[in-house]
Amino acid sequence: MFNKLISQILPYVPEKVVWVFSKQYIAGETIEEAVQAAKNLNAEGIMTTIDVLGEFIKNLDEAEANKHEYLEVIEAAEKANVDGNYSLKPTSFGLLIDKDTAYRHIREIVEKAASYNNFIRIDMEDSPCTDLEIELFRKLKEEFPKNVGLVLQAYLKRTHQDIENLKDLNSEDAPLNFRLCKGIYVEPASIAYKKYEEVNKHFLEDIELMFQEKMYPAIATHDKPIIEGAYKLLEKYKVPKDKYEFQMLYGVTPALRKSILEQGHRMRVYVPFGKKWFGYSTRRLKENPEMASVIIKALFYKG
Ligand code: FDA
Repeated sequence: MFNKLISQILPYVPEKVVWVFSKQYIAGETIEEAVQAAKNLNAEGIMTTIDVLGEFIKNLDEAEANKHEYLEVIEAAEKANVDGNYSLKPTSFGLLIDKDTAYRHIREIVEKAASYNNFIRIDMEDSPCTDLEIELFRKLKEEFPKNVGLVLQAYLKRTHQDIENLKDLNSEDAPLNFRLCKGIYVEPASIAYKKYEEVNKHFLEDIELMFQEKMYPAIATHDKPIIEGAYKLLEKYKVPKDKYEFQMLYGVTPALRKSILEQGHRMRVYVPFGKKWFGYSTRRLKENPEMASVIIKALFYKG
């Protein structure tokens, strides 16, 4: 209900007002701010994954510019010794316009990260992208076995089978590194679980399969029941601390994040930054149960 209400209201809220609420989820607009935010998290014992905001571009010139921005970010973060890797969205390199061009740009970014023994995570976007992003990942994983990972979404009915289908890429030396999240896009019921309990059940089943297959899951959630379910699986499979990690989004549930860290688990925070913050942050606002009333008040509060 909150999500629906906020979706209806957001188009009428001035960007300046949306920024007031959004800035908690964004590390800033510049590379320097992103690197500083990552260093601050590192100081708390948290690893990071830096993301340059932007997605679904309209022309391929933007893809070129986005690639250069990633190459610059990697250079800056490596120079600053940030303990972290990078995440990217293939549609910001033109995946839906020309998949070969997108592949070439992303390959260059992965190559750059690999030159620092680092890692690029391919975020998962909406369902028209799923096959394309898996195909892209497969190609890159074959060339850079230790430097690339993929996101999978527990709400998609196909995900369990996707994990099975990618098993041939798993090895002890370079395990498949999947971030599992619930999934954020609005998908039809024919392909996606819709109920909270169903999504959570499949989330834990997918994580269990990853443990059984000795893959490296990144458990990306702020949802306590899933985190507790994951703890049980860690116990059941006696998973060593360096064979999985938890992940959370910048600015979301810091107290829960601290409690996971204090129990000795590895934690990585997704650090988005950049000028194109609007799309990302409105998705976060829609997920925040406290936001509906705040935004409604803001609408009526001039200045
Ligand atoms: P859920 O939405 O049920 O939230 C559980 C609880 O967390 C809420 O009750 C609330 O207390 C708190 N909470 C959640 N969001 C909040 C917010 N914005 N503000 C305040 N409190 C909040 N999706 C995708 O489709 N593709 C991707 O590549 C990624 N990548 C990704 C990376 C990382 C590191 C994370 C953590 C998440 C993603 N996601 C994503 C987003 C993911 O699919 C999902 O939409 C969000 O994580 C919210 O789902 P939860 O599992 O937290 O549960």
